[in-house]
Amino acid sequence: MAASGSAVGLGNIWGFPTNAASNGGAAFLFTYLILAFALAYPALMAELIIGRYARANAVTALRTISSGNKTRLLALLVGFIGIVTVSFILSFYGIVSGWMIAFFFDPVARLLGASQLSAWLTNDAVMRNSLFVVLFMLLTIYIISAGVKEGIEKWASRLMPSLIVILLLLIVYVLTLPGAMDGLRAYLIPDFSLIADPSLLVDAMGQAFFSLSLGVGTMLIYGSYISSNENLPTIGSLVALLDVGIAVMAGMLILPAMYVALASGVEIYDDSGGLIAGPGLIVSVLPSLFSTMGAIGVFVAIAFFALMTIASLTSSISMLEVPVAYAVEHHELERHRAAMLIGSAITAISLIIVFNFDPLFDLVVTVTTEVSQPLLGFAFCIFAAWIWQRSEILEEIKKGCPEVESGIFWKIWPVYVKFICPVAILVVYFQ
Ligand code: PFF
Repeated sequence: MAASGSAVGLGNIWGFPTNAASNGGAAFLFTYLILAFALAYPALMAELIIGRYARANAVTALRTISSGNKTRLLALLVGFIGIVTVSFILSFYGIVSGWMIAFFFDPVARLLGASQLSAWLTNDAVMRNSLFVVLFMLLTIYIISAGVKEGIEKWASRLMPSLIVILLLLIVYVLTLPGAMDGLRAYLIPDFSLIADPSLLVDAMGQAFFSLSLGVGTMLIYGSYISSNENLPTIGSLVALLDVGIAVMAGMLILPAMYVALASGVEIYDDSGGLIAGPGLIVSVLPSLFSTMGAIGVFVAIAFFALMTIASLTSSISMLEVPVAYAVEHHELERHRAAMLIGSAITAISLIIVFNFDPLFDLVVTVTTEVSQPLLGFAFCIFAAWIWQRSEILEEIKKGCPEVESGIFWKIWPVYVKFICPVAILVVYFQ
C-alpha cells in the first residue's frame, strides 16, 4: 500500500491525463502501457530486490552489491545523486501540493461565506504559495517522524483506500454530465499517426519513470522494509498495476471533466489550440467547471482537491524517507531530528523556488525528471544486472517465492534488465 501510495500521485491524476490529451489520446495510453510494463516494471523490480537484499538506503545498498573500488565509488555517486534528485523533486512537488491544499480550503471558505478568504486562497501569490508549501511540508515531516510503521504504513493504508473511493465517485458523477462522452472519445480514440513521434516516446517514458517513483531510491528504501517472506515479483506487479490502473482511471475523470467544462462555456484550449495542460488545468479550468455545477460543485471541488492532496502526501512521504533513511542509517541521526532538519532544508529550497518561480520551477522539474531520473534508472539496471551476482539475486527472490526459477519472471527479467532496459532507456533518452 505504501509503495503504491508513492507511485500514485500528481503524476497519475494530473500528469498522465494531460500528457495523454496532448499526445494523441489513446496513442499515448497504448505507448505508455507498453513502456510501463516493458521498461519501468523491470526497473522497479531491480530497486525492490536490491533494497530488500541490502536492507539499507540507496548509498549503502548499492555499495553492498558492488565489488571493487571503482564500482563502490560509482555506487556512492549514484546513491547520492538519487538523494539530491529526490530532494529537489520534493521541493517542487511540495509547491504544487500546497496549491492543492489551498484549493481544498477554497470551497470550504465559500461554503462559510468567506469570499475574501476564498479570493486569497485561489490567487496565485507568493505569500499564499509560501504558507501552503510550509503546511504541506509540515504534514510530510510529521508522518515521516512517526516512523515506518506508525507513520508511512499507517497513513498509506488509511489514505490509499480513500483515494480510490473518491476517484471512483468523481468518475461516476462526471460521466453523467453533458459533454463527458466527447472527453472520453478524445481520450480513448487513438490517433496512431502520432505513435512513432519521438516526443510521444520521451513523454511516455518520463511519465512512466516519474509515475513509478523510479531511479531515486524511493522504491529501494521501501524494498528494504519488505519482509523476506513476501513474493517480490507479485508485489512489484501489484504496485505497477495499481499505478497504471489509477492513471488510466484518472484519464476517465480529467478529460471528460474538461469537455464538460467546455460544454458549460469554460475555455479549455490554450493559444496554440492545444488542450490546457499546465497548472491552468487544475487551478483554473476545473475550479471554473465546479463553480458551474451549483451547490453540488462545492462538494465535488472539496472531493477533488482532497483526492489531489492525499495523492500528493502518500508520494511526498516516500520522497522524504529517502534522505531521512540515509541520515538515520548512515549518520546515526535520530529519526525525528533527521526528518525535521532535512524536511526544513527542502522547504527552504521550495521557498527559494516560490520567490523565483519563473526562472527556477521549470528548470528544477526538467533537470530532475527528464534528465536525472531516466539516467538513474539506467544506472540501477546496470547495478542489478551487470555488477550484482546473479546467484545472489535469485537467492533473494527465492526467500519469498521459492518457485521463481521455474516461472516466467526469472526467464525474462534478468535478460531484460541486462540488455533491453538499459539500451531502450538510452535510445529513448537520446531521442
Ligand atoms: N510517483 C509520484 C507521482 O506519480 O506523482 C511522484 C514521485 C514520487 C516521484 C516519489 C519520485 C519519487 F521518488
